[in-house]
Amino acid sequence: DTGGHEHYLVKEIHEQPAAVERTLRGRLDDRFHTAHLGGLNLDARELREIRRVKILGCGSAYYAGEMGAQLVEELARIPAHAEPASEFRYRNPVIEADTLYIAVSQSGETYDTLAAVQEVKRKGGRVLGVVNTVGSAIARACDGGVYLHAGPEISVASTKAFTSTVVAFALLALHFGRIHDLSPAEGRRICAGLKALPDQIREILAQEQRIAELAAEYAKHDGMMFIGRVRGWPVAREGAQKLKEVSYVHAEAYPASELKHGPLALISPELPTVAVVPDDELLDKNLTTLGEIRARSGRVLTVGHRVPDARLADHAITVPKNEPELDPLLLSIPLQLLAYHAAVALERDVDKPRNLAKSVTVE
Ligand code: BG6
Repeated sequence: DTGGHEHYLVKEIHEQPAAVERTLRGRLDDRFHTAHLGGLNLDARELREIRRVKILGCGSAYYAGEMGAQLVEELARIPAHAEPASEFRYRNPVIEADTLYIAVSQSGETYDTLAAVQEVKRKGGRVLGVVNTVGSAIARACDGGVYLHAGPEISVASTKAFTSTVVAFALLALHFGRIHDLSPAEGRRICAGLKALPDQIREILAQEQRIAELAAEYAKHDGMMFIGRVRGWPVAREGAQKLKEVSYVHAEAYPASELKHGPLALISPELPTVAVVPDDELLDKNLTTLGEIRARSGRVLTVGHRVPDARLADHAITVPKNEPELDPLLLSIPLQLLAYHAAVALERDVDKPRNLAKSVTVE
């Protein structure tokens, strides 16, 4: 039941404020400005022994894991890295006792992710799951974890589970951070940011009509470039993935910093760029990159916190500002709507894109 929406995908996009509320429910501690996660099965002393975090998942779960890795590094100052579970399991990975492995999966049934968990466990490593489906194969195989409580996700392309995964990582990173050196004031800042997310997502969803008009216009091109720097980079990757999955428009994601090392050769009026430009310490660098694209007659659509100078962008989508560490989550929401409405404009099979399955349970 699409609940009055035309597709499950757009229904699930609109369910995100409620999904985030469920992921947060009962988990924020206003006294110690930290997060409580009952299912980790790791006490503070064990958590302090962790020197690295390795995050494993496939598709959008992997991109959410990339955002998660940044959150863990920024808030807890523990080196963290995400890798496609599908690659990890085939490369005879080195498993270390002081690394915490985290498997990410909406369905909890993705075979590549399950195989990666089994490989870690077989070699004596410790794995947590960040999983939506309670009691799923991956959840059962892990030593502990965090359930998303995002509710069932039907559309093949992940939206609310993606967002809830990033929120779950923010909770984990806050918890790790407060065990290490994140101050109470910093903890309070992140707690307040997390509480603000549902209403801020609602504000972004209210811009749907305008994003739909932009999507119909940009979908006329055969391809699009998505760029972002540091915190904006996983946003660009997931934005490109979403567009490819549901609209079949070719989308290439690049770090903005890498543009001049190759892909700038592709820039022309035929290949528009979606640029993720948050208002952070890298804003000036990002604006310079936009200038380089415009100098090659490239069209630019920005997603950020303010409208850039008209010489630097043809169109701009703005989102409310949260804390810099949590902004990537909000910047991802307009890109979901962009992909959805591009797919609608091109009359694609939105909820069941060709060649894809919701969960790939075979090798
Ligand atoms: C892919 C789906 O096959 O599996 C993606 O098409 C999804 O949408 C990925 O992100 C991972 O799925 P899960 O259930 O492990 O999060």
